[in-house]
Amino acid sequence: PETQLIDGYGRKIDYIRLSVTDRCDFRCVYCMAEDMQFLPRAKVLSLEELATLGESFVNLGIKRIRLTGGEPLVRRGIVDLIARLSALPGLDEVTLTTNGSQLSKFAKPLKDAGLKRINVSLDSLNPERFAKMTRRDMLPQVLAGIDAAVVEGFEKIKLNAVVMKNHNDDEILSLVDYAQQRDIDISFIEEMPLGQIQSHDRKQAYCSSDDVRQVVETAYGLLPSTDTTGGPSRYYRIPSAQGKIGFISPHSHNFCSSCNRLRVTAEGRLLLCLGQENSVDLREVLRRYPGESQRIEALIRDAIIRRPEGHQFAEDDAPQVLRFMNMTGG
Ligand code: GTP
Ligand code: 5AD
Ligand code: SF4
Repeated sequence: PETQLIDGYGRKIDYIRLSVTDRCDFRCVYCMAEDMQFLPRAKVLSLEELATLGESFVNLGIKRIRLTGGEPLVRRGIVDLIARLSALPGLDEVTLTTNGSQLSKFAKPLKDAGLKRINVSLDSLNPERFAKMTRRDMLPQVLAGIDAAVVEGFEKIKLNAVVMKNHNDDEILSLVDYAQQRDIDISFIEEMPLGQIQSHDRKQAYCSSDDVRQVVETAYGLLPSTDTTGGPSRYYRIPSAQGKIGFISPHSHNFCSSCNRLRVTAEGRLLLCLGQENSVDLREVLRRYPGESQRIEALIRDAIIRRPEGHQFAEDDAPQVLRFMNMTGG
């Protein structure tokens, strides 16, 4: 019988998110500190190590791999890694989450390398707002990148918008319109309390998915959709429109009971849950026993059994998880 990873709560794990770098050309306020200190390169998994790890996960029954960051497209050799992972027998898809800043250049090579779906962060269509939320004045590059991806015709393109009160909560409909005009999906995300950020008060900026959904529903109507990637996004559709509208609601609709995924940080720590500190050091074993993939696979199998039930983000602003999102892997 085929190998499967099943945790102590009966959840089948068939999806991993591999962070290929903690570095990024943006400094989004909800993700990082302004003066973020990045990892020394020696601590980051090499492309070879990432590919080996991908193979091990596939041996263990993983069907989808999503590459995240930081910003994955700032990592040199990323296209080759995607080509290599895409060729693994047994894997259904390799996908990527990007900030879009370099997508004009990368859309075609990524498609050619076998990338199936691509998710692009887009919080605002207003250049000043965009620059405030990402701390980089690069909206035109991102919009050009999205257009390049649309031209390439990926199986699916999804936009991600973290909705923050008094930042972009008045742009919900314009973002929906932008996505619908291109027949692509969009997810609205509740900000998660990862890392100690200084730029804003997370509690004050909180905007619930129900509030966001109400705005879309009033304007366009919403029908539930059965679309799912096993991920946290709850999808809806607008009558007579192509693109789906998703909501990722870690605060208001806890999705841990159906979680199908694991993360690996850029330094090779297997995170058993995004909202918990516990992790397993895969890099140490990868480097100490090169070529001995059965050791890594045994380590992962053991770790799965100890997987926690889920995250409990507190109502107050205090982050229980001190690592920033770029260290967590999107
Ligand atoms: P697919 O399921 O592969 O379609 O994508 P996704 O929407 O889950 O992934 P994407 O990289 O676009 O992430 C969007 C947001 O969802 C980010 O803020 C992620 O951190 C968040 N997210 C994805 N998976 C999880 C999860 O398991 N737990 C939590 N708390 N957040 C998640
Ligand atoms: N809370 C919710 N989403 C976040 N992202 C980054 N930091 C956070 C956070 N603290 C989102 C980005 C991107 C995806 C990889 O993660 O907007 O779309
Ligand atoms: Fe970079 Fe993504 Fe973090 Fe923004 S959310 S700083 S684009 S890693």
